Amino acid sequence: MKIGDKESNYAIRSGTIGPDVIDIRKLYAETGCFTYDPGFTSTASCDSALTYIDGDEGVLLHRGYPIGELAEDSSFMEVSYLLLNGELPSKDELESFSYTISRHTMLHEQLMQFYRGFRRDAHPMAIMCGVVGALSAFYHDSTDIADPEHRRISSHRLIAKMPTIAAAAYKYSVGQPFVYPDNSLSYTGNFLRMTFGVPAEPYEVNPVVERALDRIFILHADHEQNASTSTVRLAGSSGANPFACIAAGIACLWGPAHGGANEAALNMLREIGTPDKIPEYIARAKDKNDPFRLMGFGHRVYKNYDPRATVMQKTVREVFDALKVNDPVFEVALQLEEMALNDPYFIEKKLFPNVDFYSGVILSAIGFPTTMFTVLFALARTVGWVAQWNEMISDPGQKIGRPRQLYTGPTQRPYVPVDKR
Ligand code: CMC
Repeated sequence: MKIGDKESNYAIRSGTIGPDVIDIRKLYAETGCFTYDPGFTSTASCDSALTYIDGDEGVLLHRGYPIGELAEDSSFMEVSYLLLNGELPSKDELESFSYTISRHTMLHEQLMQFYRGFRRDAHPMAIMCGVVGALSAFYHDSTDIADPEHRRISSHRLIAKMPTIAAAAYKYSVGQPFVYPDNSLSYTGNFLRMTFGVPAEPYEVNPVVERALDRIFILHADHEQNASTSTVRLAGSSGANPFACIAAGIACLWGPAHGGANEAALNMLREIGTPDKIPEYIARAKDKNDPFRLMGFGHRVYKNYDPRATVMQKTVREVFDALKVNDPVFEVALQLEEMALNDPYFIEKKLFPNVDFYSGVILSAIGFPTTMFTVLFALARTVGWVAQWNEMISDPGQKIGRPRQLYTGPTQRPYVPVDKR
């Protein structure tokens, strides 16, 4: 390749599937140029064996297994094991893993006191960022990132404690007492009980809701190098401890273009209210002078139907039937999807419903307030974050992340004292 008057050759590297990459690590040394790729639309930042996405074909694989099959036939614990260890667990391995996770569900009692420092109306994501970041002040015995055993324990702690942290954030906001974990329940059943149970009454886990929520957790478990995962990797590349890295991931996930989209999508569907208003909103989404976007539509990678949205749409029906919910928001969602999919603007730009289009509808039917939606996304994505973080630390070629820039500011000029300006 010739750049300016400099000739340079770059190796092409192939993965097991997916596009090849041009290895440009020596580009600057050989040509004096950087590449320019805001948003990293053409840039691979790492090797990874965890998750594969073919956005044009609507394919999502975890360690080679299609997401549809995992969502249909496995459990969140099984998928967590798969992401962390590379292979599906045997029956014994699954039992032992689930047992280990259940033994880490409690929070240090002093950490529970943190909640009382927040305002009752604080967004639970704000609480989550703070409490997860604070874990590093409590679990010093698992923060040596060079030690694989420390990494394993801190990964298990994060996966196990996230439901307790999330449920406590909810309980605090509604003024109810915290419900401590019950390790005889499944990972997801335990979370439902800690969220919706009260000490005054026994709580019975509804198996349809438990299955639906477990499936939502599976669908959100990992999604290769998205913004929050890249944030976790970037934070971790400096050697920061895992609790701090996951807190950084949570902060990034909060944004409405990322994990906040499920909250935004449901708010939008409620605002639309009735099917007759849909054309008005579609027109706004198409209007270049209006910043409004159809939330839950479009994806950086999927330019075909998001395979997670297919599973979600089916799950909405199951939950609505089981809970006998009759919420007009589902009808609005179905009709909005149909109208948008037949509209030339959305066809041309390859905009399809993403995972968040239906997840909010399900979570709301289960009883979660919209502010908890992104919290649930963070809870489920924690396993993906820790698996990616572990993969990065174990990679001998790992370096601190440090992008370059195209400088457009003033060139050097002399300082002018304030009385001369
Ligand atoms: N409604 C209307 N127009 C849209 C939408 C939308 N939801 N999404 C993209 N477009 C248009 C956009 O205006 C642009 O048009 P033009 O080329 O004329 O300027 C074109 O499509 C390409 O958009 P982009 O912003 O360059 O695409 P991107 O890949 O950078 O953005 C996205 C991807 C997800 C941020 C964006 O589609 C979006 O904002 N969607 C709504 C928010 C949402 O649902 N996010 C959840 C993502 S899935 C969960 C997760 O992984 O976090």
